[in-house]
Amino acid sequence: MAATGLLMSSNLSIEASNQINECAETSPYPSMLINLQASMTTEEKIGQMSQFFSHGEYISEHLAESIRQGRVGSVLNEVRLHTVNELQRLAVEESRLGIPLLVGRDVIHGFNTIFPIPLGQAASWCSETVKQCARISALEAATVGVNWTFAPMIDISRDPRWGRIAESLGEDPHLCSVLGVAMVEGFQGDALHKDGNIAACAKHFAGYGAGESGRDYSTVNIPENELRNVYLPPFKAVADAGVATFMSAFNDLNGVPASGNKWLMTDILRQEWNYPGFVVSDWESIQQLTTHGFSKDNKDAAYEAANAGIDMEMVSTTYLDHLPDLLAQGHISIQQVDTAVTKILQLKWQLGLFDSPYTDASMLPVPLNPEHLQIAKDAAIKSCVLLKNENNILPLSAESLHSIAIIGPLADDPYEQLGTWIFDGDSQYSQTCLQAIEQLLLGQVSIKHVKAMQTSRSYNQADFKQAVDSASAADVAVLILGEESILSGEAHCRAEIGLPGCQEQLIDAIAQTGTPIVLVIMAGRPLTIEDILPKVDAVLFAWHPGTMGGPAIADLLFGKAYPSGKLPVTFPRKVGQVPIYYAQKHSGKPATEATYVHMDDIPVRSPQTSLGMAATHLDTHFSPLFPFGFGLSYTQFHYQNLEISSKTLHLGETLTIKVLLTNTGKIEGEEVVQLYIRDLVGSVTRPVKELKDFKRVKLAAGESDYITFDLCTDKLAFYDRNMQLNIEAGQFHLWVGGCSQTGLRDEFEIIDD
Ligand code: BGC
Repeated sequence: MAATGLLMSSNLSIEASNQINECAETSPYPSMLINLQASMTTEEKIGQMSQFFSHGEYISEHLAESIRQGRVGSVLNEVRLHTVNELQRLAVEESRLGIPLLVGRDVIHGFNTIFPIPLGQAASWCSETVKQCARISALEAATVGVNWTFAPMIDISRDPRWGRIAESLGEDPHLCSVLGVAMVEGFQGDALHKDGNIAACAKHFAGYGAGESGRDYSTVNIPENELRNVYLPPFKAVADAGVATFMSAFNDLNGVPASGNKWLMTDILRQEWNYPGFVVSDWESIQQLTTHGFSKDNKDAAYEAANAGIDMEMVSTTYLDHLPDLLAQGHISIQQVDTAVTKILQLKWQLGLFDSPYTDASMLPVPLNPEHLQIAKDAAIKSCVLLKNENNILPLSAESLHSIAIIGPLADDPYEQLGTWIFDGDSQYSQTCLQAIEQLLLGQVSIKHVKAMQTSRSYNQADFKQAVDSASAADVAVLILGEESILSGEAHCRAEIGLPGCQEQLIDAIAQTGTPIVLVIMAGRPLTIEDILPKVDAVLFAWHPGTMGGPAIADLLFGKAYPSGKLPVTFPRKVGQVPIYYAQKHSGKPATEATYVHMDDIPVRSPQTSLGMAATHLDTHFSPLFPFGFGLSYTQFHYQNLEISSKTLHLGETLTIKVLLTNTGKIEGEEVVQLYIRDLVGSVTRPVKELKDFKRVKLAAGESDYITFDLCTDKLAFYDRNMQLNIEAGQFHLWVGGCSQTGLRDEFEIIDD
């Protein structure tokens, strides 16, 4: 190991060495890092704070030389094993101090085996599933030497126009926190140095999901109280769970871009939360401080970012170019640089890179192996949400069908089912719906497949006749429609979120045949499908389900598996309702059924004040199309006997909540039992409902079970108007049910003695 045995040099300040010693107390092998850091030149330290882009068969001479000179702490996007090992060799053997590299990659929902998009995984409401997907993603990514992923993305997302909602875990702070932690645990395992574990990165800190009108990168304004109560909790949860790194967001947050936001990166993250890991910028987001109009030039940008607490710069080179001058001129102190370098070196140490910088793929499971594919299939099954099932048309029975028409551009498209962020996925391994249904039915039922449209965006109706004919001749038409992968993800936002192209006309045409329609939708976001619903008998929302999407959907359609997903995000009726989410505030004039009037029902020349004066739109109902937490099953679940352990609680006490859940249907099923509360009066207004806990429960037909939740008063804390985290005494409502809009209700009171 090139780096051991070096002595503490005099260029390390006393403060910095104290800081390093503080870290040392919590780090297993601190003295080696202390010695190493003490021997580094200022340029080498700044090099550790710099991440270079590398992608290709050959390493550019510029990159190789930069590594030799100690100007590179990390590379991103290199995934060829021999190239990654060669990069490590350059760093370990040819640089002066032999410090290995962090190798970063966006491993977002799988590496070679592609799992459902994160929003789909969130629909499973299953930590174990989410953790397993991340675990396998890590194992596969590690085979090529990737040791750091830029996931989980835990931006609260309440705007389906935003393309990156696909990459999120939905709209709710609690669900997002629980599943974000599960992802971190899956990526990082129980110790970073163990084979196949990779460092995770909580992104994008903070507020990135709340861009104006759902446009990516756009301005974000979130009042501090809202930020603390809604947007920051998932980041706090993963910080507490030990996520190795954070990434600063691209967006302007209340006038200060996140990548130059000292309040966020230092006051909150380091001082309030004591977060020990390091923060990487987003792609060129430090340089973009100039584009924002926040910094006058790149030097100023480097100053703002370093001063804010961004430890590593992704791709742009303002640190390399300007930190030396900023240090020399005293604008940035060597302590600030040392603090960043300490954290970066510590992560390399924790990953075991000083001992084994090279990757030997033979130590790890082979990607895309049958176990990985089975877990991908199970995850896709749990992710699908059944939104409609008129007359229990689903599950289809192969025995009672003679013929089935499978129609649509996404029925047999191995690429488009994978979704966004699949750099290392390969559609040749995908199993499509058509393939899986054919395999499942094995000649028992005649299958006619018509693509009908070349792509989901096509306006050409030339093949509609063939589709209509096949539907007319079939017992059931299975339409597999939605959005292509490219229509969601980074920078892929939409102003209208209906089915693109002429898919709605295709549904109209098929509906006229009178053949029952089962609609499967693959998409990266909630879609506005209100007008379509009456025309189809069933809707299964599959998100982008990944490599094994086909077999998962085939099993669900034919009853080899049952749907159990629940929406992690509200579905609007119309895009004009956005943002619409279940945890809204009540307002001074909440909408009610009693007062709601649709514009078609307003008498001509009605007086201005005749309509009930409520927070509604005239041209659509105030409710969403499908609420958060909603999802049907092939069976029915009945909730009864809600009991709570006490009607009053003192601070620090725990309320036990118990409900009897019965599967009243004829087949086994899984229900996600959800616990919501409402704090009736607060020093700042509180949401009408807040998810506080949930449990996935499997029950056989006819089976009952008592489900219990323990609700400690700590879980009722919120940031008050002085930005203090407090539990306020007073009345609470509580619901337990299968969705955010239903459930048995009880009440309790918190007493502050
Ligand atoms: C995205 C990040 C991503 C990074 C590296 C950026 O454009 O916003 O989420 O991790 O690129 O690929």
